[in-house]
Amino acid sequence: MAYSEKVMDHFANPRNVGEIPDADGIGEVGNSKCGDIMKMYLKINDGIITDVKFKTFGCGAAIATSSMATELIKGKSIDNALKLTNKAVMEALDGLPPVKVHCSVLAEQAIKAALSDYYTRIGIDPVPIVGEIKHDDDAHEACGI
Ligand code: FES
Repeated sequence: MAYSEKVMDHFANPRNVGEIPDADGIGEVGNSKCGDIMKMYLKINDGIITDVKFKTFGCGAAIATSSMATELIKGKSIDNALKLTNKAVMEALDGLPPVKVHCSVLAEQAIKAALSDYYTRIGIDPVPIVGEIKHDDDAHEACGI
């Protein structure tokens, strides 16, 4: 299984690792099959994601995709973050092996879960905006892990 240089770089030197103690939104997603867990913290000001940190207990691809995902949404609007797909994260990393696609899904879902939490905290129903948060076991079925 070959990883791109960008994947290896974000795995070895992940950006934005850690926690935000006074986060405005926190999202945690996991995949029951591999047991990997991703937690995302967002600081939001005036609709802009001013800071983002993550903690991932998971495989190298999960760490690399969460790192890249944080880079892609930092300083961006909530709308931008909501549009971030796992495909865009993979493209930014110059691709992932097919059996690792589900790891990027976890990154997309962790951001959506954190935004859901943000809306819930400010008294807005997140479902019409963010949608349901999936834990994407189906993607794992496809790769047979
Ligand atoms: Fe499950 Fe990568 S997130 S193996």
